[in-house]
Amino acid sequence: MTKKLRLGILASGNGTDLQSIIDASEGGLIDADIVVVVSDRKDAFALKRAKTHNIEGFFVNPKEKDEMDKEIDDVLTKNNVDLVVGAGYMRILSGDFVKKWYGKLINIHPALLPSFKGTNGQGDAFDYGVKITGCTTHFIDEKTDHGPIILQAAIKVMPGDNRDTLAQRILKVEHQVLPRTIQLYAEGRLKIEGRKVKILPGDSWLKEQENNSWVLYSEGY
Ligand code: GAR
Repeated sequence: MTKKLRLGILASGNGTDLQSIIDASEGGLIDADIVVVVSDRKDAFALKRAKTHNIEGFFVNPKEKDEMDKEIDDVLTKNNVDLVVGAGYMRILSGDFVKKWYGKLINIHPALLPSFKGTNGQGDAFDYGVKITGCTTHFIDEKTDHGPIILQAAIKVMPGDNRDTLAQRILKVEHQVLPRTIQLYAEGRLKIEGRKVKILPGDSWLKEQENNSWVLYSEGY
């Protein structure tokens, strides 16, 4: 058996994205184990999820950005993390941290980047009146929500939607796209070429998972 990828997850909130990775890992869908969950919120439900699944949880007390990220870096390094995943982490990482982890640091965003960056991608897209939105996984670089895009999924905004029904539908798809992205990384199939990410040939999850007709998955899913 090949060596499993060691994941460090950064999460600020409820942690359903984290849960999707836990489920995929425990269910053998991805060749990766979560070794530590880091949160900037002591009461984050994500930390409770970690505890329930016997995963080390680490609360990093918010303070000056460089100092805070140094602490996070220490925890990740101590745990021999191979890939760091932003799963609902609501802070901007410091330049030094991003430089050190570049290529091993990914994020999921609840909109089709480069539209609707920031901490309310779903709400901003909804308020703008878009008819199609979605989610994006990308490598993190030094600019916010800017790094090379890995996968995207497009989702229709329905007539009866409000911000929250839309956010829930996006989340459902995030829970497919995020583990899929991690598995592509684990298989060594992601090659960064400047702004682009080349996805090397291999299997697809399209047939194996529920394929929702209201979702358009990018190549590589
Ligand atoms: C997810 O929708 C994720 O894409 C978003 O936060 C939510 C976390 O949900 N992330 C961002 O907005 C990052 N800018 P969760 O706590 O249930 O996983």
